[in-house]
Amino acid sequence: MNVTEIHIYAESDDLYRDAAEWVVQTAGEAIERDGRFAWLLSGGDTPRRLYALLGSSEYGDRIDWTLTHLFWGDERAVPISDPRSNYRMVAETLLSRVEVPGQNLHRIRITASPEESATEYENELHHFFGARPAFHLALLGMGADGHTASLFPGSPALGQGERLVVAAAPPPPDAAGPRRITLTLPALNASESVLFLVTGAAKAPALAAALEGPPDPDLPAQLVQPASGSVVWLVDRAAAQFLKRKTLSTA
Ligand code: 6PG
Repeated sequence: MNVTEIHIYAESDDLYRDAAEWVVQTAGEAIERDGRFAWLLSGGDTPRRLYALLGSSEYGDRIDWTLTHLFWGDERAVPISDPRSNYRMVAETLLSRVEVPGQNLHRIRITASPEESATEYENELHHFFGARPAFHLALLGMGADGHTASLFPGSPALGQGERLVVAAAPPPPDAAGPRRITLTLPALNASESVLFLVTGAAKAPALAAALEGPPDPDLPAQLVQPASGSVVWLVDRAAAQFLKRKTLSTA
């Protein structure tokens, strides 16, 4: 049974500081226990401030980056030079500020097809973790439609029970955009801990549905329920406005 915690913030600075502390603490515990920290990163805009904060002088030396392995929860089928690349976003916000050894950067490589990229990435996960990949921490965001990573409502990828990584097509209005490579629910739910960062009023309906609505097999963010891991949601007031529970977290 997993444990779900929800923290609601009036101030976004407090949200990002707590998120940074959560990553630092999880990294320290992982490195102490396992000698390494396997962290699954999210794309999107929300985590940019967290990556920049962790790369700042205030946090940069609080994580042993030489023992930290970075993975990506999803990627667009674009070159890393493309502004839509999740790898590029992390490179700009975090990797430009901290020294992570090249062999610790497990990016989703864009090859001849998204299907081939997905297969290659799944092989890389098995090479690193063995039979059962298990990230120490999976950082996730959520779209206004309740998607997470590139698992969208109505996507066949939601029903994937075996594969850890698949190719996926973005829904309208991005349907004509680049295809995606995404980790599946079995991969996400094998994580020891999940940290969702959700901000903004546009996400309020999906957040209330995910956290307080009835079980919905077509609501990807609600389906992230690690078998034995913890799920922590750090959300701002705007995103939390439809939640029945209103306890505010302060720094
Ligand atoms: C991505 C993420 C995606 C993101 C949500 C929220 O690659 O974009 O995997 O799931 O977390 O779309 O995005 P924002 O943080 O930009 O609102």
